Amino acid sequence: MNRPLELILAPTIRGALFDGAAAPRVSFRAEQDAELQIELPDGLPDARTDTSLDTIRSAVIHALRPLVELGRIPESVAVAGVGAFDILPRRAAGDAADPGVVGLRAVRERIAIVTGGAQGFGAEIAKGLVAAGAFVAIADLNIHAAAAFVAELNREAGEVVAIAVGVDVSDEQSVTAMIETVVEAWGGIDIFVSNAGVLKAGSVVELSLKDFAFVTDVNYTGFFLCTKRAAPIMALQNAAAAAHGSEYYTDIIQINSKSGLAGSNKNGAYSGAKFGGIGLVQSFALELIEDRIKVNAICPGNFFDGPLWSDPDRGLFVQYLNAGKVPGATSIADVKRFYEEKVPMKRGCSGADVVTAIYYAVAQKYETGQAIPVTGGQNMIH
Ligand SMILES: NC(=O)c1ccc[n+]([C@@H]2O[C@H](COP(=O)([O-])OP(=O)(O)OC[C@H]3O[C@@H](n4cnc5c(N)ncnc54)[C@H](O)[C@@H]3O)[C@@H](O)[C@H]2O)c1
Repeated sequence: MNRPLELILAPTIRGALFDGAAAPRVSFRAEQDAELQIELPDGLPDARTDTSLDTIRSAVIHALRPLVELGRIPESVAVAGVGAFDILPRRAAGDAADPGVVGLRAVRERIAIVTGGAQGFGAEIAKGLVAAGAFVAIADLNIHAAAAFVAELNREAGEVVAIAVGVDVSDEQSVTAMIETVVEAWGGIDIFVSNAGVLKAGSVVELSLKDFAFVTDVNYTGFFLCTKRAAPIMALQNAAAAAHGSEYYTDIIQINSKSGLAGSNKNGAYSGAKFGGIGLVQSFALELIEDRIKVNAICPGNFFDGPLWSDPDRGLFVQYLNAGKVPGATSIADVKRFYEEKVPMKRGCSGADVVTAIYYAVAQKYETGQAIPVTGGQNMIH
């Protein structure tokens, strides 16, 4: 796989600087001035074989670790012919929300990507990660909404805690470009939240192949493409950390659904893609644990307060009311009550419920390949 050298060097530098809890952000620029020069051997082959990756890793470790051992982390490093990497300042101890909570502490200073992060669950997840001290790339098809949300997050934080990236998760080139943008800006990825999803409900005998394929491409294939491109970056970080005796765990988290745990009437395209997502999660988890990448799914119940359900024009509540799907319902409130009654805890899933599950998945270092329900008891697994 031929990748530009900066995309290999930046995660490797992060791994070399990993301190057992987190690694700094590393920002790439195409200039040569820097505090420290790292020499790569001449004649490094273009093809990124395991041998050339080992050579690059050794050069980075050799240049940086003696300084780290002395407590002297440089502000920038450069590699001839490639460019410079600014090592961004670490957060001061204690400025993340409640460091006493294990899950929050696990997320602190981590670099996250949230696909479909401009609205709905994705936006709630991004807020929860930022509140816990993480840096978040909001990656969305709707770049305008992503940019507006990022401006709001940064204004509230008083610093750059978020960046916006345009992406179509069902397009491989677009996913590759998203990963490159984040790695050039921040040097790597610690938490990849595959959240972008679409729903087109319909009877199996009426749904068009086009709609079926659209739902499958975004919900199912999109998760494959994102994992395919994120995992190699995470592996480079871990390999560099392992070279100095550290264990650097990273996370890929698929936002699945209760419809990935039980079938959904007249919603087969969505439910099938979500069931398939769990097959991918389990399979990727088995493969990627070798690189200390955990892969888990979170399966939320219905987010009644989010736009999918509550949008006044196109939301499912208004659609179900107009379609007469709920017997006797004459208002949106009636439709909402009908669906809340199906949940043992008598309410919909919230962003905070999902965020709590993400904190858990990241903090838990002895679990992978799981589908974690967050459904108020509506789905129970055995
Ligand atoms: N809303 C619910 O009740 C509910 C319940 C369980 C699971 N989920 C899951 O949660 C996730 C988010 O759902 P939501 O309801 O918040 O969705 P939403 O429709 O409110 O937001 C989805 C976001 O994803 C973006 N997006 C759509 N297609 C994309 C693509 N191809 N590439 C990149 N971005 C794209 C949209 O622009 C939007 O910002 C989905 O995976 C969904 O299946 C939702």
